[in-house]
Amino acid sequence: MSDDAWASLADQFVDGAYESVKGQVRTYVLHHQLMEHFPEPPGAVLDVGGGAGHQSFPLARAGYEVTLLDPSPTMLAKAEQKLASEAPAVRNRVRLVQARGEDAAEATGGQRFTAVLCHGVLMYVDHPGPLITSLCRCAAADGIVSVMALNAKTLAIRPALERRWADALAAFEASGERGLLGVDTRADTVEELAELFRANEVEPVTWYGVWLFADWMDPAATEEVSAVAAVELQASRRDPYRQLSRVFHLVGRSRADA
Ligand SMILES: C[S@@+](CC[C@H](N)C(=O)[O-])C[C@H]1O[C@@H](n2cnc3c(N)ncnc32)[C@H](O)[C@@H]1O
Repeated sequence: MSDDAWASLADQFVDGAYESVKGQVRTYVLHHQLMEHFPEPPGAVLDVGGGAGHQSFPLARAGYEVTLLDPSPTMLAKAEQKLASEAPAVRNRVRLVQARGEDAAEATGGQRFTAVLCHGVLMYVDHPGPLITSLCRCAAADGIVSVMALNAKTLAIRPALERRWADALAAFEASGERGLLGVDTRADTVEELAELFRANEVEPVTWYGVWLFADWMDPAATEEVSAVAAVELQASRRDPYRQLSRVFHLVGRSRADA
């Protein structure tokens, strides 16, 4: 995708996807999974491909210093807009940087972060290697690297539930899919990303599913978000549920001597 391919997708993603129960569940589940690994605030968090800040602004609210990096001026404008409604103390803890994730170390002046997040971005890059290397370079010794990616092992689920049987059959051997935003996306496996982590001095710690049931809810559903989120959080942590999630969340820790 070109840098500002997100110009045309921003409204749909920020105002549409995040408003749904599914979107809110995603933020809740990822936040709780992250908190299992984060040290107490303060600490410096880099959110690569951070978009409008849905995942990292709550971290700034919790006391972390957040650098949100994204190549898309449109997404950064959305982030700026969202930030304006935060308290001044929170706004002061957030810095927005326009750059590609692959150039994050240069764009942030070589700073090393307590945690580096990259959620929902890998599916839009052709090859995972350069982005993972960049994330790992930005993590401080003992720092967290957190990646959310499309699960290559569950690609048949969506077409099958949509009764697109020929697509479902092809999906068992596919390496990506036309995503919900109408853009072609690339899928990864936990094992391959874990190997890339290791090659970059980051030890994989654990992995989770993200959503399972909320993925199939009517976008107009008026379900109690907290009730759905509590179920999804439990499902995300255990087999076989986490294995069936269409996206996965992999957390690693940079080696202490890195
Ligand atoms: C689906 S949004 C995810 C936003 C945010 N991480 C979240 O979870 O809400 C994908 C984001 O990735 C950004 N992006 C696309 N290619 C990128 C790259 N090579 N490096 C960093 N960000 C990228 C887009 O501009 C967009 O903001």
